Amino acid sequence: MRAVLFLTVVLGLVTFAGAQDQQTEIKHTTAAPTSPASGKQMFMAYCASCHGKDAKGDGPAASALKLAPADLTALASKNGGKYPAAKVTSVLSGQANLAAHGNKEMPVWGPIFFRISQGHESEVQMRIANLNHYIESLQAK
Ligand code: HEC
Repeated sequence: MRAVLFLTVVLGLVTFAGAQDQQTEIKHTTAAPTSPASGKQMFMAYCASCHGKDAKGDGPAASALKLAPADLTALASKNGGKYPAAKVTSVLSGQANLAAHGNKEMPVWGPIFFRISQGHESEVQMRIANLNHYIESLQAK
C-alpha cells in the first residue's frame, strides 16, 4: 500500500467551473519517466505543478494546497546568499521534516526516484544533484 502511494505524484489537475464557484482538484498520476541528466526536465515534470514553471511557488496545483509551495528562487537569499544544496537534498530524499513533503498527499521524492531509476542508487543521486543544479541556476540575484 505504501509503495503504491509513493508511486503516485501530483501532476494532473482537473478544474470544475461551476456557476459560482471554481474548484481545483488535484489528481494523482504516475510519475512520468524523465532523464536523470536533465534537472530542467525533472523539474518541469515533478515540481512545476506546485512550485510553478519559474519555481516561484505559483504552480497550477498551488491553490488546492493548504500550504503554499515555497518560492524556490529565494532559497539562496533566505540562506544568506548561499544556495542550500544539502537542505534541498534532504527535502527530496525525505530527511527534512517539511509538512508538505512527505505526508500522504504530498510526495517524498526519494522513493519515487528510486523506483524510476529501477533501484539504482547512483542514478537517484544523479537526479537529486541535477535537480539541485537546475534550481541553483534559478536563484534570484
Ligand atoms: C504537491 C505539491 C508539491 C510538489 C509536486 C513539490 N513540492 Fe516542494 N513544496 C511544496 C510545498 C507546499 C512546500 C512548502 C512546505 C513546507 O513549508 O512545509 C514545498 C517546499 C519545498 C522545499 C523547501 C523550501 C524551503 O524554503 O525550505 C523544497 C527545496 C522543495 N519544495 C523542492 C521541491 C522539488 C525539487 C520538487 C520536485 C522534485 C517539489 N518540491 C515538488 C509542494 C510541492
